[in-house]
Amino acid sequence: MKSKPGVFQRSLFGGESVPGQGTLFDGLTPVTDPGARRLPEQQETTGCKPDLGQELSRDLEAKAPAGDRFAGIDDLALLRQLVLKCRQCSLRQGARGVVFGEGNPEAEIMFVGEGPGKTEDEMGRPFVGRAGQLLDLMLKSHGFSREETFIANIVKCRPPGNRLPSPDEVQACLPNLMAQIRIIRPKIIVALGALASQTLINPGLRVTRDRGKWFEKDGISYLVTFHPAAVLRDERNKRRLIWEDFLSLKQKHAELCR
Ligand code: URA
Repeated sequence: MKSKPGVFQRSLFGGESVPGQGTLFDGLTPVTDPGARRLPEQQETTGCKPDLGQELSRDLEAKAPAGDRFAGIDDLALLRQLVLKCRQCSLRQGARGVVFGEGNPEAEIMFVGEGPGKTEDEMGRPFVGRAGQLLDLMLKSHGFSREETFIANIVKCRPPGNRLPSPDEVQACLPNLMAQIRIIRPKIIVALGALASQTLINPGLRVTRDRGKWFEKDGISYLVTFHPAAVLRDERNKRRLIWEDFLSLKQKHAELCR
């Protein structure tokens, strides 16, 4: 298998045990910040997204690249039905099913990981293994709920043995994710790890060098951070750094959306 230059060779899928690791949340101190949580009655009025209307539907259609198989689709439930039937690459053959992603169809923040791991493949949901538990904790600790965000992956089917998806598999699956982004129209996308950062923002990105940086593209603010599975391995103080990145996310979200 040929790999894309610069993409980390080690797969970052969750669901694997981490030898020599303490508890999942070692080194993480959850903070409670009630002020950062929106009250239910605020949720409809304080969002920063304009109403989806006719104007936008035309816009979405216009932005889908020529020949895009999802051009004109502006409903996430419909997209889901189509993506669940996807057979654009061979990953589907080795997986139990397609892990479409989940969350708020009007999310202001979207998280994008690499691809489903074993637990995700079994449950049909993204980030529900150990890496997902860490993501949930980071969200909660910074005043967000998982449900208010949308969580997806670069590839929607688990690669055999949790290997890194090949460039061909990424390209085959990308229209699925791009359609999700077009429909959800998040203000912020958090790229979790190298594959998401290099695929969505710039192939030259290095997570160790560029984590914590923000990039603007097509009206969306992108944040590069570590993949939670890499944080669980905690090489070089990643726990403290991802914590800082979530603080930055909280600040940016407050600037853009509150
Ligand atoms: N790792 C990922 O990249 N995505 C998941 O959904 C789970 C683990």
